[in-house]
Amino acid sequence: MAKFVPVGSFDIVIFGVTGDLSKLKLIPALFHRFLDGQIDRASKIIGISRQTLTEEEFLKFAYDACVKSALKGGAFPKAKWAEFVSMLTYIEMDATQQCQKWAELKNLISDKNHPCIFYLAVSPHLYVPICNSIAETGTKSENARVVLEKPIGTDLQSAIEINQGVRAVFDENSIFRMDHYLGKETVQNLLVLRFANTMFEPLWSNNSIDHVQITVSETLGVENRHEYYDKSGAVRDIMQNHLLQLLCLTAMEAPISLKAEDVREEKIKVLRALKGFDAQSVLKETVRGQYISGHIEKQAVSGYTEGLPDKLKNSTTETFVAIKTEIENWRWAGVPFYLRTGKRMAARRSEIVIQFKPLPHNVFGEGIREPNRLVIRLQPDEGMRLYMQIKEPGPGILTLKSLPLDLSYAESFAEVSYPDAYERLLMDVVRGNLSLFMGHNEVEAAWQWTDNLLQSWEEANQPIVTYMAGTNGPLQSAMLLDRENRAWWEEKA
Ligand code: BG6
Repeated sequence: MAKFVPVGSFDIVIFGVTGDLSKLKLIPALFHRFLDGQIDRASKIIGISRQTLTEEEFLKFAYDACVKSALKGGAFPKAKWAEFVSMLTYIEMDATQQCQKWAELKNLISDKNHPCIFYLAVSPHLYVPICNSIAETGTKSENARVVLEKPIGTDLQSAIEINQGVRAVFDENSIFRMDHYLGKETVQNLLVLRFANTMFEPLWSNNSIDHVQITVSETLGVENRHEYYDKSGAVRDIMQNHLLQLLCLTAMEAPISLKAEDVREEKIKVLRALKGFDAQSVLKETVRGQYISGHIEKQAVSGYTEGLPDKLKNSTTETFVAIKTEIENWRWAGVPFYLRTGKRMAARRSEIVIQFKPLPHNVFGEGIREPNRLVIRLQPDEGMRLYMQIKEPGPGILTLKSLPLDLSYAESFAEVSYPDAYERLLMDVVRGNLSLFMGHNEVEAAWQWTDNLLQSWEEANQPIVTYMAGTNGPLQSAMLLDRENRAWWEEKA
């Protein structure tokens, strides 16, 4: 079993509690931590939304959100649920307005010894108005924290405005900018792999590494999120945050400590060194794709625009993006970093592939020799594989084979169940541990690079290419690497 150290009592106020994030992630995460005894009954969970719901309807909503994930193959823990329910309260209000309901909320969270967490599970344009309401109604206590979900804004300018507006109410050390990828086990393990083992660091540069690939592929489509997704696309939804965070952790220098400010400082240096695009290079080094109908696990799925309301039928929003970039510093000069992400792909897979340089001289004769590769799998089956060349056993001619040294989490830690990334990160917010959250400079540096990509697309009139649902993306994505004699690593799960 994983060890769960109880956190002290706290109050959490979830704005936008009836939305998808809260239903799919936040409420189940809090319930799971409660089931494991990490949260005590003196904590309060207060849901806020403009929706008219009776207390009973809200509890039913919370129950539906938790019931499936809490079964864990057994019966639903009814007694524990009854205790958990006693911690829940619902308040109907428009949090951008000052109204009587704030007094009700203030009353509920009046215990000064509890940290009070304001979780903004709402659209980013509401972050500042809600923070202002929190300040103007005097609801912010000394021990208050605010959690902002990615994406923070839709471009650099809006991110700066949000950061300034939120920082006018909360100081930087009480702002938790959430990127749930940083709460995934293997992502944290990336730091351990790099900085708790000595063998990789001497190899971790342009001396030994040929290129790096980072993939976040999903079989899911946009479900019922098209209002948001169609304005966002794969670049703003995943590349600006999850992919760039993975890139930073892969490429950054060793921080002087694991304190938030030290880790952030190193990540920002990577973001600032990222090569940008112009109207010419963007055509060559990036691919924008959108899925059309196809099959996933033998099920027919419709194309992106087919699932959209009429007004969006001609949408050219990208559901896939692949790019080649470089980190312009001494360690990485000349090493391509290929990043890609897509919806409705062949498999759900997030991984980082470090491909080492080919042999300088081959003494083993003709034939294709595979290079060494380190494959860090974030999901679905977390683990690491280090591909080595070995001799195929037998008395015949000397033949080589590429086989992995395989570290599978499922096998090595069979007894351990991993909390969802949100569970881990929520507990970090309660503890006040900022290491796995983004700083304002970091978010802005990521937007600066992303804005340049989006503007270059616009200037170049970058075409959108299609790919069939259930594939590895458009042909052009394969060509991006193929013309440099490389290929995406498509190992089966
Ligand atoms: C979210 C994106 O941040 O990450 C979603 O908004 C995406 O579009 C999700 O589906 C993927 O997260 P995970 O943890 O399932 O890889």
